[in-house]
Amino acid sequence: MQYITLDTETDFDGWRKAARSLALHHVQPADVAWTVQGRDADLFAPQAPSPILAVNEGTFNVSGKFVDLARTAILHRDPERFAILYRLLWRLKDNHDLMDVAIDPDVAQVAAMAKGVRRDEHKMHAFVRFREIGRERAAHFVAWFEPEHHIVELAAPFFAKRFADMPWSILTPDLSAHWDGLALSFTPGVNKSEAPSEDRLEETWRRYYASIFNPARLKVKAMQKEMPKKYWRNLPEASIIRPLIEDAERMTGAMIANAATDPHKPQKRPEAPMIHTTAADDLEALREETAHCRACPLYKDATQTVFGEGPKHANIMLVGEQPGDKEDLAGHPFVGPAGQMLDRALEEAGVDRKKVYVTNAVKHFKFVPRGKIRLHQKPNTPEIKACRPWFEREVSAIQPGLIVAMGATAAQSVFGKITPIGKTRGRLIDLPEGRKALVTVHPSYLLRLPDPEAKALEYQRFVDDLKIAAGLQKKAARAA
Ligand code: URA
Repeated sequence: MQYITLDTETDFDGWRKAARSLALHHVQPADVAWTVQGRDADLFAPQAPSPILAVNEGTFNVSGKFVDLARTAILHRDPERFAILYRLLWRLKDNHDLMDVAIDPDVAQVAAMAKGVRRDEHKMHAFVRFREIGRERAAHFVAWFEPEHHIVELAAPFFAKRFADMPWSILTPDLSAHWDGLALSFTPGVNKSEAPSEDRLEETWRRYYASIFNPARLKVKAMQKEMPKKYWRNLPEASIIRPLIEDAERMTGAMIANAATDPHKPQKRPEAPMIHTTAADDLEALREETAHCRACPLYKDATQTVFGEGPKHANIMLVGEQPGDKEDLAGHPFVGPAGQMLDRALEEAGVDRKKVYVTNAVKHFKFVPRGKIRLHQKPNTPEIKACRPWFEREVSAIQPGLIVAMGATAAQSVFGKITPIGKTRGRLIDLPEGRKALVTVHPSYLLRLPDPEAKALEYQRFVDDLKIAAGLQKKAARAA
């Protein structure tokens, strides 16, 4: 029996070196016991671990796909992961194409572990909340987080980019990450009692959350799926979720009563996060994949990928340009001012937003920082092109009968080429596979128009365009 002790829970290089050596010495997976320094030792293990066998001869190559997957899967908390990875590596020696067999139990298990790690990384990006400490002297921001897997080193660079100007620490039970404005460093994990819990940022978060809460779209199950309960205790906004849910019925009634608002004036109603209702596996898998998109540099500064939302098999797909500031923070498309404008126009046109799929041509927020503000920037052609495969795959998954392109960026993505809006606006255009496209303006364009008269006119034209979609929605409902 070979007893291998790795330096840390995330010691991929140590595992790789040991695994390679063991495989070249033909040590069967069943004859290797893996552990990590400091973990409770196997009762039968010798006092000293086996030395790594020297590699004198022979070599073998494994695919980059395995190495990439193993590098991520090794961060999973399953104590058996080192053994599972070695078993897969062992089998790859004689079956080079095994990684392409997705239903193979070992391949599937490693892929599922890697997916779990990526999902946990995504949750950490979304649910870490910094609190300010040391205000008398230099300010420092501290967050407490309990990751499911060993993802602190994986997730930390995101926070270094996103919060580059503030010194922060993220404390976790496994490992703590620190950023001093120049470099990342890591120290051992700590107890929750060492994390600060109250400060003035709490109130800001609560107010922000209350402002994006839309009672009309309340779906408690979907909400819990997006924001699993285990994270709630560390979220300042958690304390207001229950009262908001309890008050939702009254607020919805009030919103319906107030619905007839002047479309020319910006409304002061809460912004509307759309909680996704998609259930199909392929769309979920796609959403998961896009969360890790690195196809263009926009992912570096954005908070998260903002994927499309709406029912699977929606007959109508609405396409915008890219998430804005609010969407980037909330992780949902069209929840900010442009979303409010869109909601109002859809309602006036008679389109039920709950029945349409809403997405963007580009799925990361592009901006330039201006003081405290993040100023929207139009995506360029390489960015639109880099994101187009996601859009195409969304179309394949949803199979909409009508795609509404709102604005030039959306039109470029829908038609795969620069398409002037003026020439195409407001009429149905044939797309492959019997689909139709409808081009109209982007709701942000209406928000930017300074002249109230022009704004009212353009808004009405926008509603008229959407009425074409409403007609199709009604026709589809009658046919169903
Ligand atoms: N503008 C867009 O194009 N998409 C959004 O999601 C928000 C604003």
